[in-house]
Amino acid sequence: MQAQTEPVTPRTLNLPILEGGLPVVGHIFKLVRHQAETFRQLEKAPGPLCWVKIIGMGWVLVYTRRESFDLFMNRITTSVRLVDQAEVIIGHTSMVAADGATHRHLRKAASGPFTPKGLTMSGVSATMEEVINARVEAMVTRDEVTLLAETQRAALDIIFRIMGIPESQLEVWGEKYTTLLMGPIGPHLAAPPLPYYFATRARRWLDERLRGYIQGARQNPDAKGLVAELVRGRDDEGKGLSDEEILDNLRLLVLAGHETTASVMAWMASYMATNPAVQERVIAEATATEGLPQTPADMGRFPYAEALFRESLRLHPPVAMQNRELTAPLEVDGVTVPAGTTVGVPIWLLSRDPELYPDPDAFKPERWIGRDHKLTPLETAQFGGGPHFCLGYHMAWVEAVMFVVSLGRALAREGKRLQMPRMPSENAFPLTRPHREESRARLVRG
Ligand code: HEM
Repeated sequence: MQAQTEPVTPRTLNLPILEGGLPVVGHIFKLVRHQAETFRQLEKAPGPLCWVKIIGMGWVLVYTRRESFDLFMNRITTSVRLVDQAEVIIGHTSMVAADGATHRHLRKAASGPFTPKGLTMSGVSATMEEVINARVEAMVTRDEVTLLAETQRAALDIIFRIMGIPESQLEVWGEKYTTLLMGPIGPHLAAPPLPYYFATRARRWLDERLRGYIQGARQNPDAKGLVAELVRGRDDEGKGLSDEEILDNLRLLVLAGHETTASVMAWMASYMATNPAVQERVIAEATATEGLPQTPADMGRFPYAEALFRESLRLHPPVAMQNRELTAPLEVDGVTVPAGTTVGVPIWLLSRDPELYPDPDAFKPERWIGRDHKLTPLETAQFGGGPHFCLGYHMAWVEAVMFVVSLGRALAREGKRLQMPRMPSENAFPLTRPHREESRARLVRG
């Protein structure tokens, strides 16, 4: 069934509206500054469906039950409307905003470097190790660091380096990309001084250069790196990606793959800095082992670092809510939610489900250790689910654990410890991250 063109809103579907919304901007400020309270409020709303309004996105019906996770399967939902929010960054052929056969084509042809084997074969893990070790080395020689700034820089450098951008140009690529990221804010008109205007210019700059990398890789069958892998990638029918598809998906990969992982790494380091016992366990595990994990298969040697990753993600999922548009009606407790409704899947609430996680608000990395079963789809809900389950899951997992093991070893070598008076507060939407200034930590001899 086709999605309706008229958006469904509280005027056409009479369900509770979250309190505290403001005219025009809606609930955006509540979500940005008080994410935890806002999700708790949504949970307590009368019934499992509650409207929120988010400027730039419109009305979203948040479905607070665990069953909302099923919407990720895209049986009665579509992902294509995601393009409305971020077209300037992800274009029209990005996998995250495609359904069905188009999605399978884009995803399969791009997936090679992101599989557990692909991470090592394509050189992604080796690049991650090089960048992380260099950044951590520089970090531990200082007396004070802003953790979020450090992890953002590391994650962005990693993604650019695997695209083949030389170290000397990382700064300017970072600047152009940051300008592009601002594009979705405000009206989508290419007129100064609107962010969209500067974003379109930055995109032109980036695309011109990326086209050069793509041409280079097409002409050289032995070329290495992410761009070459995307040029060589094939879907199940043996069809490759066009230049346009590669460009849109490269921009998506930078978007999806750097701030998310940077955020979780900053939370992990913040838990170390505020909790000496956690820090000592990370250091003890890191110094008792050699090498850094290169694939998920290596994780067995770093159970505590992995547990810290899973618990930090659970408590602070970078993508706290992901939306889908209904293509067919959804029945919930006798209410028929019509096709065309934008429904929010609250990953934040799924991550604090008391039946899955006893004492859900407590930081307990131990809950992930010594388990006798594989992770269930709900336990990895921070990466979505179904056909759009995060393509970079293995990369993010290896990157974050690699970072914390490298950090543990460097701290031991320097005889230093991270210190922070309290955990940073959460800055949320569009991504959950620690408040930048509050993520400042001291490095003290200890
Ligand atoms: C902790 C880190 C990360 C988190 C929490 C995260 C989270 C997510 C989530 C929730 C989705 C689902 C989107 C949807 O269903 O609409 C997603 C999709 C995606 N992620 Fe990640 N991500 C992370 C790291 C990465 C990395 C490192 C990369 C690659 C460099 C990446 C690439 C992607 C791509 C390409 C998609 C779209 C997949 C598709 O549509 O088939 N992500 N991610």
